[in-house]
Amino acid sequence: MSNAHPSILFVCLGNICRSPLAEGIFLHLARQRGLDGIVADSCGTGGWHEGETPDRRAMAVAQKRGVHLPSRARQVRPKSDFTNFTRIIAMDASNMENLLAMGAPRERVQLMRSFDPAYSNDGAPDVPDPYYGGDDGFDNVFDMLVVACEGLLDEITRASSRAAP
Ligand code: 4NP
Repeated sequence: MSNAHPSILFVCLGNICRSPLAEGIFLHLARQRGLDGIVADSCGTGGWHEGETPDRRAMAVAQKRGVHLPSRARQVRPKSDFTNFTRIIAMDASNMENLLAMGAPRERVQLMRSFDPAYSNDGAPDVPDPYYGGDDGFDNVFDMLVVACEGLLDEITRASSRAAP
């Protein structure tokens, strides 16, 4: 895995709620840290929402917190995505299973919440799907993703400082 130019693909089921939020939050926090060269994208294991902007509840929570969501929904493209991205980050265990069944390289697939320091304590490995719930589910997911994205950025920063000459 190249540490010089990390590229991150966030993956959920529909690519209109969790992974577009993860992508937007990650890019926002990366910019805040002055890390402008990291590529991030998102996609869904399903293709029902191809071309759509994120769910209006995801857009609302992001706008409220000052985060831009650049995503247009797309389905995962195994051939190019599993080659091009240095990290493939699944929102839940079911997304991860689906990715592995599609041929994603095991060593590059990780769970989003594995970057949350509380993850090993609370035994809840999934970013819960807020699609069928109320607006508060989106606030909860947003908070969870901020913590996990900070942890991911910490790890990327550590990895690139190890790689530096
Ligand atoms: P997401 O949520 O995976 O976080 O984008 C969902 C969005 C849409 C559907 C399921 C989950 N759907 O079945 O259409």
